[in-house]
Amino acid sequence: MSARAGSFSFDRKDLSRFLFDLYDYEPKLLRKLISARPYVCPFEDIERHIPSNAKVLDVGCGNGALLAILLASGRISEAVGCDVHEGALASARKAAERAGNAGRVSFLKIGDFEAMPADRFDVVTMVDVLHHVPEGKRVKAVDEAIKRVGTGGIFLFKDMVESPFWRRLAHNIDDLIFSGEWVRQVKTAEVEAHVKAAGFVLVESQEIPRIFYGNTLRVFRRL
Ligand SMILES: C[S@@+](CC[C@H](N)C(=O)[O-])C[C@H]1O[C@@H](n2cnc3c(N)ncnc32)[C@H](O)[C@@H]1O
Repeated sequence: MSARAGSFSFDRKDLSRFLFDLYDYEPKLLRKLISARPYVCPFEDIERHIPSNAKVLDVGCGNGALLAILLASGRISEAVGCDVHEGALASARKAAERAGNAGRVSFLKIGDFEAMPADRFDVVTMVDVLHHVPEGKRVKAVDEAIKRVGTGGIFLFKDMVESPFWRRLAHNIDDLIFSGEWVRQVKTAEVEAHVKAAGFVLVESQEIPRIFYGNTLRVFRRL
């Protein structure tokens, strides 16, 4: 597999190698952690919901792994990645350059979700972000994401499961080690009800276990 557009088929091993090659400018440990992510985060399940040549907004894009994967697989006509963390965005910009078609992507540092571009997108993704947002601000964060989805567009929400207890604990310990936070998991059922009430239909609902972690994926389409 190479980092050229449209050049790979997705399985976890390929994605892991792709990310390992792509992030070769990162310190060794971080590079290894990034390349291990496809074994925890179901990027291939996310990717199949993104149509080709989509206009994508990635809310809380971090180091840009998802956008790099989508760029390299030809899913993106235009994209914006937003995050609060400038260091992660610098890495995301480099990764996009190396993934090819970097001119299609821009990265924006935001102070809060309201500062995201006031535009409409074919797809808005929010992957493992909401559990980092204080509980009292989560509804607003989701509202800011979904109001940027165009008619017929997709809101793809991925987070970590609340249960069973031991999968939640694995997630808590992971975040404690890597982000210094003891996070409170997202109540996915509440997110689901809220997004549906805003005029979306649920098109996919999946619980995806990986090692001792548990992912919860919800894909909504705006009517
Ligand atoms: C676990 S990382 C996930 C990154 C990326 N979505 C991925 O899946 O690779 C969580 C990200 O959410 C970002 N984040 C947390 N609070 C945010 C906020 N209020 N606005 C934007 N990004 C935020 C963090 O800076 C971090 O990059």
